[in-house]
Amino acid sequence: MGLKLKNVLPMFVFLLLASTAKAQPAALDVTSEKYGGKPDSDITQALEKAWTDACASTTPSKIVVPKGTFKFVGTTFKGPCKAAIEFQLQGTLQAPVDGSQLPKDDTWIGFDHVDGLTLSGGGTFDGQGAQSWKNNDCNKNTQCKSKHINLRLNFLTNLKILDVTSKDSKNFHVNVFKCEKVEIKGFTVSAPKESMNTDGIHIGRSTGINIIDTTIGTGDDCISIGDGTKNITVTNVKCGPGHGIAIGSLGRYPEEEPVSSINIKNCTLTDTTNGVRIKTWPDSPKDGTASDIHFEDITMVNVGNPILIDQEYCPWNECKKGVPSKVKISNVSFKNIKGTCTDPVAVKLVCTQGMPCENVELSDIDLKYTGNKGPITSVCSNVKPTINRVPQPLACATSAAAA
Ligand SMILES: *[C@@H]1O[C@H](CO)[C@@H](O)[C@H](O)[C@H]1NC(C)=O
Ligand SMILES: *[C@@H]1O[C@H](CO)[C@@H](O)[C@H](O)[C@H]1NC(C)=O
Ligand SMILES: *[C@@H]1O[C@H](CO)[C@@H](O)[C@H](O)[C@H]1NC(C)=O
Repeated sequence: MGLKLKNVLPMFVFLLLASTAKAQPAALDVTSEKYGGKPDSDITQALEKAWTDACASTTPSKIVVPKGTFKFVGTTFKGPCKAAIEFQLQGTLQAPVDGSQLPKDDTWIGFDHVDGLTLSGGGTFDGQGAQSWKNNDCNKNTQCKSKHINLRLNFLTNLKILDVTSKDSKNFHVNVFKCEKVEIKGFTVSAPKESMNTDGIHIGRSTGINIIDTTIGTGDDCISIGDGTKNITVTNVKCGPGHGIAIGSLGRYPEEEPVSSINIKNCTLTDTTNGVRIKTWPDSPKDGTASDIHFEDITMVNVGNPILIDQEYCPWNECKKGVPSKVKISNVSFKNIKGTCTDPVAVKLVCTQGMPCENVELSDIDLKYTGNKGPITSVCSNVKPTINRVPQPLACATSAAAA
């Protein structure tokens, strides 16, 4: 009897430990013997193998890339997977410098059709893009050679990006497309202001996105919100250098869908060419709408054009100027926007002819011009905003000349 208990007890303790261990996601370390990844060498195959195992697991799993620098030529990690996956990047993944070595011409790292993916770990996705930026003429050249996006996120649901960095992407850093329920928190984007076309986070055709406590310095828009996007909040974001936070550009392509429910709150923009703006192309192929867009508690530090609606957006002369945009803008507010600007036109609301902006509010605007090209001013056309506590020079002081 006594002997039996002695035998059973350790067995019971063992089972108890085994069952608590099971509750933790199994860690798939790419440097383990099973996957064989080594620092300073290419771990593409190791990561692909770990992904295959994680994706097949019926319980949540965790892929770990430990501290250190690892080369990675690129891949698209595909779902659907059987359970949630945490991709914990503690070290640095480095893309090839030469874009032609990447397996896809538009993506470095992709995630596709996964439910419950989390990117975490404090590590860095380093696109090593400095050589590629000079080739970034994709705006005007469809044959352009540099379309590699650091993180291309397609058809993901319940995605979290926590505490990781995207550095020197060859093109956009993060492209969110057809995603639902996304939290981006403690994320960092880092690239110099000369890096062309390196938007920080671009969101298209997605819903339920929450970006919070994030710092973005790059060579193009910090955050850009494209067509078909709804229910987005951006809070406590620091942007700069870069081109600011933008809704758009919209109204360029025929299949575009409405944009609505966008809330940008408590953000600071520093040394950016624009602050908060909505941009639409003239001569849109189809009617569109952008509505329910609110910018509140925004600090501007040396920002070019802090408050901007531009329905004559036409970079590189790629449009028929003078043909009005057909994107209807309504229910937009700019509230409590303070700080300094480097262009005397601090507020510019240029809406479309024949389709004026409706229900636009400007409240508590306090901006100082730091340059010497004359007094601070504002330009408005095809819009009659509601104005509360805005000094006269900023309250639609002049109207824009017809295009
Ligand atoms: C908006 O998105 C959040 C997730 O960020 C979600 O919890 C909320 O239910 C969504 N609201 C609507 C009206 O869809
Ligand atoms: C606003 O954002 C800053 C960081 O940019 C943060 O320190 C502060 O707590 C935020 N305020 C609120 C009310 O969330
Ligand atoms: C604009 O807001 C008003 C209420 O303030 C609402 O009735 C209307 O439907 C909104 N329009 C759009 C296009 O969101």
